[in-house]
Amino acid sequence: MLVWNVGPPRSVGAFLVSEGSARHDASGSLMARRPIILSLTNMHESGMRLLRASAEVRMASAVDPATLRREVVGADALIIRTGGKVDAALLDCGKDLKVVGRHGVGYDQIDVEAATERGIQVVNTPGANTESVCEHVFAMMIGLSKHFPRMTAELAAGNFLFRTKMTGRDIYGRTLGIVGFGRIGRRVGEVAHAAFKMKVLYNDIVPIPPEAEARAAARRASFEEVLEASEYVTLHVPLDASTRHMIDRAALARMRPDAILINCARGSVVVESAVAEALDAGRLWGYASDVFEVEPPPADHPLIGRPDVLLTPHSAAQTVEGLSNMATGIAQDVLGVLRGEPPRNPVNDPSLVNANRRRLGLAALSSF
Ligand SMILES: NC(=O)c1ccc[n+]([C@@H]2O[C@H](COP(=O)([O-])OP(=O)(O)OC[C@H]3O[C@@H](n4cnc5c(N)ncnc54)[C@H](O)[C@@H]3O)[C@@H](O)[C@H]2O)c1
Repeated sequence: MLVWNVGPPRSVGAFLVSEGSARHDASGSLMARRPIILSLTNMHESGMRLLRASAEVRMASAVDPATLRREVVGADALIIRTGGKVDAALLDCGKDLKVVGRHGVGYDQIDVEAATERGIQVVNTPGANTESVCEHVFAMMIGLSKHFPRMTAELAAGNFLFRTKMTGRDIYGRTLGIVGFGRIGRRVGEVAHAAFKMKVLYNDIVPIPPEAEARAAARRASFEEVLEASEYVTLHVPLDASTRHMIDRAALARMRPDAILINCARGSVVVESAVAEALDAGRLWGYASDVFEVEPPPADHPLIGRPDVLLTPHSAAQTVEGLSNMATGIAQDVLGVLRGEPPRNPVNDPSLVNANRRRLGLAALSSF
């Protein structure tokens, strides 16, 4: 069982805040002023309490670029969830920014390179929602295997006897292919093996420790083999240049017609129109997804309302536990960086961030 670090808040102490609003004026001296944190999102009270105890928290009134560029002025830190984008133009308006916190794991909506160049630390909360997303994946695998969307609709239409028209299937003992064997992928593999005796194949671009493979009795395979051999394919990669549209027409053509594809990673990892085509042609058993290429998806989205598709609105991590872990995790790390402590979960290299700060005439964020 994963236990996120929710220990007592570290001492309030002094914060690394700059006097005045222009970054080039920053003296980096430790001052009594409470830092200003612009939050683009509501978050679980556990995290809000930590932030408010030590900082002035300003809630963004909207997440469109123009509003954010206005409201970031004077902020020492920014916290983002799924809404909004942190690009170079926004960072240029936030001259006092020292840290950007991603409430969650994927940071594809943050221009990390631009932050590094400007001497801004980026932190996130890896592991905080691993269990939540893992359970969501099994809810989807099992829900589609038992035709939940179709059965629910038929029952609501008064067609109780539909139970005799469609046969579900068990996931027990079937083959599961995992693309991206990181925190979530490995946990999905472990549960699949331990609870359902599934045969686990995985593909990743980095070496995986043998102990991690052993916990899931998982075998490394090529991307092509994972697609061709699996009755369930679940995606757990970050969205980047190597994964954007990795499940395209060609990839779908490799999959078994009795396969179910699950996407709790990012919408743009798949080509949604190609998934709809494969379903229409009977070349795929079902698709389950928590994420969309465009969020929120348009009402006429080709995958919405289909009985062979199970969709949720990017809610896999939206559990009491997931929300609390992400909120406390990001609050602790953002406040820690503002206090001059080394980041616990850096997305960009802290020594590079500090080197760029020195180059720009800014005080280092931490002393290591
Ligand atoms: N639906 C949600 O609410 C939700 C919640 C949490 C995370 N996510 C998404 O899930 C992703 C994975 O989360 P995690 O905590 O497991 O991250 P992680 O960084 O621990 O694991 C990602 C794994 O993918 C691998 N990978 C990267 N590029 C690859 C490629 N081209 N082919 C194969 N493998 C590749 C990495 O090497 C790594 O092992 C996140 O980046 C995020 O986008 C979604």
